Amino acid sequence: MAKLAIIYGTGTGHTGEMAELIGDGARSEGLETEVLKLGGVTEDVPGGGRTTSVDDALSIMDSADAVAIGSSTYELKPVIFVQQLMDRARDLDLSDKVGTAFGSYATRPKAVGLIMDAIKEMGMAVMEPGLQVSGRLNSSAKQECRELGESIAKALSEKK
Ligand SMILES: Cc1cc2nc3c(=O)[nH]c(=O)nc-3n(C[C@H](O)[C@H](O)[C@H](O)COP(=O)(O)O)c2cc1C
Repeated sequence: MAKLAIIYGTGTGHTGEMAELIGDGARSEGLETEVLKLGGVTEDVPGGGRTTSVDDALSIMDSADAVAIGSSTYELKPVIFVQQLMDRARDLDLSDKVGTAFGSYATRPKAVGLIMDAIKEMGMAVMEPGLQVSGRLNSSAKQECRELGESIAKALSEKK
């Protein structure tokens, strides 16, 4: 079964909600998914949830057929762990993968564009324009997230 790695950084959880919905859409079209929230280390978080280190996320990214990278925008930048992932991913050969980007913002989105530029440089088959949602997810934004997951599954099946 083809695998989609959904790897994201978030401050307050909006981008994480997008990640879970993208995963729902992808699984509904038959993909295996791994949804990873980046953090400093790989650990279960007291009170619930789990974070994955940049190192561990890179090896999961390397083993996946498609990668969706998510980040919200803070001070016109991606979340720091996502920036670290982008910087370190340049050492891998990811050119056989399908890639896209997603994230939450308020009024000045920046992270998704920066991730798109980075994954293009890595040679991935990029699905543009990715998905940017301002603030909390309403029902149409939730549907767009699921549809992005479905589209990634379709792009992978057409690539074979
Ligand atoms: C200190 C701070 C800086 C922010 N900078 C930006 C920004 O540069 N551009 C933008 O569109 N939103 C900015 N935001 C808003 C967040 O991107 C927005 O709240 C987003 O929904 C957070 O998503 P998350 O919950 O996935 O982290 C900022 C928020 C804070 C608290």
